[in-house]
Amino acid sequence: MKRVFSGVKPSGNLTLGNYLGAMRHFVAMQDDYECFYSVVDLHALTVPQEPEELRQQAISLAALYLAVGIDPKKSTLFIQSQVPAHAELGWLLQCMSYMGELGRMTQYKDKAREQESVTVGLFTYPALMAADILLYQTDVVPVGEDQKQHVELTRDIAIRFNNRFGEVFKVPEPLIPSIGARIMSLSEPHKKMSKSSNSMGDIHLLDEPNVIKKKINRAVTDSEAVVRYDPENKPGVSNLLVIHALCSGESVAALEERYQGQGYGALKKGTLEAVLAVLEPIQARYRQLMASDEIYDILAAGAAKAREAAAPTLKRVKEVMGLNL
Ligand code: AMP
Ligand code: TRP
Repeated sequence: MKRVFSGVKPSGNLTLGNYLGAMRHFVAMQDDYECFYSVVDLHALTVPQEPEELRQQAISLAALYLAVGIDPKKSTLFIQSQVPAHAELGWLLQCMSYMGELGRMTQYKDKAREQESVTVGLFTYPALMAADILLYQTDVVPVGEDQKQHVELTRDIAIRFNNRFGEVFKVPEPLIPSIGARIMSLSEPHKKMSKSSNSMGDIHLLDEPNVIKKKINRAVTDSEAVVRYDPENKPGVSNLLVIHALCSGESVAALEERYQGQGYGALKKGTLEAVLAVLEPIQARYRQLMASDEIYDILAAGAAKAREAAAPTLKRVKEVMGLNL
């Protein structure tokens, strides 16, 4: 079976964008691939974190992975920091990465602009992400649009390493959904929905239904009053159509037809119903999982499996690089 690896950072509240752009696909891939899914807590450290909060967020994110449908019998679910090979290969790959290419990463440039002081970790983070992926001889990496550049860098690093030291790494492919790869903010539909901004524009997976209702009702649209998919000229309405379509399993074209001549009130009402139908069962499962201790056993077993799967690649890398074993 081909292998899949992907990760989500335990920082902030997960959004509908995380779910529609990434996690939904993680679930769908479980039957056809050998999947490794990680709570990438080392990545969260690139910006300041409260220690106790970080620990809680990691458990909460693991529960959400399970709540959306990751099945620990099929997939390996683990917390990154419990598998030391990630940090170790991360260093080795930093020594195979160039300042210039890391400096070109748009996520780094955006985040560095927002921050007063920037850690070295924020800069070198794509090398750690490359380590996450390459450790497992991954074939496919399902991610949202914003991670494409990092997966491309991972490929460059893998190819460079293999050219220098021999065929050690499989060169992975990104898998980016054709629709929903970039869910936009409801209040600023030119920006992506993001878990750190905490505004009315972001639907969080754990938002109360009445909060979700308020956010969708206030979503920015336009003055044309025609329900039509046109992301360029009608970003707000197009975003609602995409969210609705992905949540209800219908096509955007079918929805355009249904809401013909009905104005935006009906579109918002339908979108709300579709979103709640997806999120309410996820929230119920999440609450159940958080109330039990089951999650700790699942994560311990996942970390053991991940350590075992990662070991051969790390050993090979150290051998070929000339490190004493
Ligand atoms: P992060 O929250 O940065 O750890 O992202 C976890 C996954 O969610 C990555 O694969 C992202 O590409 C994806 N993702 C984050 N925000 C969005 C969004 N607004 N639309 C689609 N995918 C997203
Ligand atoms: N950098 C990713 C993000 O911010 C998270 C991530 C870390 C990841 N390691 C990964 C995604 C490996 C895919 C594969 O969303």
